[in-house]
Amino acid sequence: MSAQYIYQDAKQPVEKRVEDLLGRMSLEEKVAQMNQYVGLEHMKKAAFEISPEEMKKSHAMGFYADYPPAKIEEMTKQGMVGSFLHVVSAEEANYLQSLALQSRLKIPLIMGIDAVHGNGMVRGTTIYPTCIGQAASFNPALVEKMSHETALEMRATGTHWTFTPNVEVARDARWGRVGETFGEDPFLVSKMGVATIKGFQNESNAGADFVLACAKHLIGGSQPLNGVNGAPFDVSERTMREVFLPPFQACVDAGAATVMTAHNELNGIPCHGNKYLMDDILRKELGFKGFIVSDWMDIERMQDYHKVSETLKDAFFLSVDAGMDLHMHGPDFYFDVIKLVQEGKLTEARINESVRKILESKFRLGLFENPYVNVANVNKILYNKNHQQTALDLARQSIVLLKNENNLLPLDSKKYKKVLVTGPNANNQSILGDWALEQPEANVVTIYQGLKQVRPDVKFNLCEFGWNLRTMKQEQVDKAIGMAKDNDLVIVVVGENSMRYQWKDKTCGENSDRYDINLVGLQQELVEGLYNMGVPVVVVLVNGRPLSTEWIANNVPALLEAWEPGSLGGQATAEILFGDVNPSAKLPITIPRHSGQIQTYYNYKFTSKWFKYATGNSTPLFDFGYGLSYTSFKYGEMKLSAKEIAKDGSVVASIDITNIGKKQGDEVVQLYITDNYSSATRPVKELKDFARISLNPGETKTVEFNITPDKLSYYDAKMNYGVEAGAFTVHIGSSSRTADLKKEEFIVR
Ligand code: BGC
Repeated sequence: MSAQYIYQDAKQPVEKRVEDLLGRMSLEEKVAQMNQYVGLEHMKKAAFEISPEEMKKSHAMGFYADYPPAKIEEMTKQGMVGSFLHVVSAEEANYLQSLALQSRLKIPLIMGIDAVHGNGMVRGTTIYPTCIGQAASFNPALVEKMSHETALEMRATGTHWTFTPNVEVARDARWGRVGETFGEDPFLVSKMGVATIKGFQNESNAGADFVLACAKHLIGGSQPLNGVNGAPFDVSERTMREVFLPPFQACVDAGAATVMTAHNELNGIPCHGNKYLMDDILRKELGFKGFIVSDWMDIERMQDYHKVSETLKDAFFLSVDAGMDLHMHGPDFYFDVIKLVQEGKLTEARINESVRKILESKFRLGLFENPYVNVANVNKILYNKNHQQTALDLARQSIVLLKNENNLLPLDSKKYKKVLVTGPNANNQSILGDWALEQPEANVVTIYQGLKQVRPDVKFNLCEFGWNLRTMKQEQVDKAIGMAKDNDLVIVVVGENSMRYQWKDKTCGENSDRYDINLVGLQQELVEGLYNMGVPVVVVLVNGRPLSTEWIANNVPALLEAWEPGSLGGQATAEILFGDVNPSAKLPITIPRHSGQIQTYYNYKFTSKWFKYATGNSTPLFDFGYGLSYTSFKYGEMKLSAKEIAKDGSVVASIDITNIGKKQGDEVVQLYITDNYSSATRPVKELKDFARISLNPGETKTVEFNITPDKLSYYDAKMNYGVEAGAFTVHIGSSSRTADLKKEEFIVR
């Protein structure tokens, strides 16, 4: 296209192009940029499968009763559409762009998709472990690499904007979306969120491998009342600032291009119409410069669920007035917002603010120059060898060994020649987790397939269950138990199912919240029955949220938490079971014994454990930061560079770690800090840093942590943020358990 206007001239600075284009746009064209629709293929499928009511409830499928695909296509040609989501192929993306380029000003579309752990909403892509497993790796560099590769797989298929990272702090295992978070600790969540953003948004914030990231959901979606998605979030200002906001601050500091607001209300005001949240906190206090997107039909829900607006138009007003920039998704917004400006309720200047930011992103993405993708390249980029390798590396580092009595693991393939492999997650795509469509079989290594691949000399006997945990049959359980006695060992793969394409039957993932966190269906019975046969049993869990498997932890000799390990998760699991890979992951979230312990997290306040439960055990089943290895690490004595510092000073804590076992292994060294006495109550300890190190047998490495004022600061009794004088305890070790930590004190004067 020859540059007729400034905005069409790639040599002009982005700011100038934006202003030029904005100056040429009608009100209608501007509001169109703030509005989004689901992709055509998605729309056609949804219209066929669900009712309009179901769609509104967020069944993750969308269509528009009065706006069939042909009409949306026409509107796109007229410049009435700025964005699509869930566009599932390069061909569809190109087609939609070709429509937009017929509009008066030829403004390309921005395509959004939930590429949460790989570009999983598209078939044929690399699926990496879900975020809870990524967090378990304590390896931000690998998460950054994964995100960059995902950006390449997105751009190859014509999408430019990912709705990730989910940086909500997850303290309630009943909530179905725990698997798409980085767990319970604000520091770890922040590190992983930042790594994700860096991977998607390259340094220059521009170009062909640049993808807009989206920190979500602001705020408290992870702690809805009773664990039910979208339910109210009532929180003190202190907890909001100490626990839930820091990851958003970190993401804003890392340059997050977009932020998505949460379904829920914050202390009585829906997040989608919350000016305090969007404007005072996010923009003014945190310094966010990008654009805010609404979550799926959540502006509409201010009318029919939150009931703070009598009409949809009022809801749109409330949201845009509060700071919303882009509406996900559907036709009403466009018409109502135009009317609101024409009636003088919203100013055009307010609309310009949003449109400016959206256009700027489109220029940075290079869409005016290159709106189309080369369909011939898709197969070279999707699920290529390099991406597979990263998915495998990440899976290897994300699987947590929770129990290994008498060193049953790694399995000795000379001793265990005949192995029964069973359980509903043994041989299907539940290992891919939420935000993934069913993938071509050839692209997925299930756990059963992984075992066969890794130890072809062992006879693995499979007893299948099908994927549906809810409809497990007693006969199948009996059959598996009956087979156990003819085998030397049993590997039973149980857990949960987050397959979103089985929306009504899955037990985990988005909108699959639970009031207990036990094993669903007949899984517990299966494990107990197998155990009772007297053959050694290894339990592998595939799940997106902590499960209260107390009986298993007490009885079964070996327990592996695989989370949802992705495309090559079966291979990684098998390699760990047979010792080709030494497990190194640590829990990014506490595992409760029982749902009645919720909330249970490691950074609790001292009084939380003042009294014990009258019945049952008050300790968690497994602690945050915990995870075993096939080797042993010895921690030396900790040294502090100073015993006294000023409020603006810092201390270096150093410690020697030696591999005293016989295998090479990685250790995640964790630094926790306690503020011994403080004007407002503080957690017993808080993670403030970590380091993943690799050690050969006999090798020693020194790890140093620099304890700077930001690691000591908090909101005091008067809500002033800073360092208070007094003593602090530094803990360094292999988990958050007191027994696993070395400690030293220093004083701030
Ligand atoms: C989820 C969002 C997601 C959006 C688009 C919503 O239901 O809450 O996290 O980005 O759907 O798929």
